[in-house]
Amino acid sequence: MSMRVVVDNGPGRKRRASSSRSLKAAKPPVTLRPAVAADAPGLLALIAAHLEEGRLLPRKLDELVVHAPRFVVAVEPAAGDRPETMVGCAELAPLSPHVAEIRSLVVSGSMRRMGVGVRMVDTLAARARTLGYSRLCAFAHDPAFFVHRGFSIVPHTWVPEKIAHDCTACPLFRNCGQYAVVQEIVQPSVQTSVQTNVQSTV
Ligand SMILES: CC(C)(COP(=O)(O)OP(=O)(O)OC[C@H]1O[C@@H](n2cnc3c(N)ncnc32)[C@H](O)[C@@H]1OP(=O)(O)O)[C@@H](O)C(=O)NCCC(=O)NCCS
Repeated sequence: MSMRVVVDNGPGRKRRASSSRSLKAAKPPVTLRPAVAADAPGLLALIAAHLEEGRLLPRKLDELVVHAPRFVVAVEPAAGDRPETMVGCAELAPLSPHVAEIRSLVVSGSMRRMGVGVRMVDTLAARARTLGYSRLCAFAHDPAFFVHRGFSIVPHTWVPEKIAHDCTACPLFRNCGQYAVVQEIVQPSVQTSVQTNVQSTV
């Protein structure tokens, strides 16, 4: 069933209904790629522009230069005179050898609800699996996007790695208003052994 979206064309202009699929088709293509150090100023600008809205962790340029390879970025490719434009970013930050956090997740306002956020989260989840993590987590004031992707809301104490890594030093500790969301990562070797055990018991 396709969702109906009402498009407001402004005062005095007729309102027109269109499906979310046709809105997605009308937008330019967005590609995903790993970030490099040279993306740090773009990452900083994108995160800074949505700090308040997403209640994001403030970032610094020198730290982003170092951590850029942890990020995936969504870009509108260069076309003619127009340079490549960064329209989304998200970081996979290690909290322990087993747990990684998705943070600094942002999609530019004009590119929302087109699947860019989901593509970035799925890319980082695949990266986390490849790197051998067993749990992915995120912290958000509005957890709906993550719940939509199959994450579960859990008490903060279920992610002690985050508490030790960031929370204890935070002035808002125990009072931050964020939800912890987690998703378990099933490693292929575990999947195979589970399948083997199931097969051997039937
Ligand atoms: C959250 C955010 C990254 C989502 O990006 P996006 O590209 O619009 O998300 P997608 O298009 O991939 O969303 C896929 C689905 O998730 C759901 N979804 C997306 N944003 C949502 C939100 N804010 N609340 C509830 N559900 C949401 C929708 O159901 C959507 O499906 P649809 O196609 O049926 O609308 C974007 O809204 C954003 O940058 N917000 C500001 C910063 C922020 O809040 N970051 C998260 C901090 S942890």
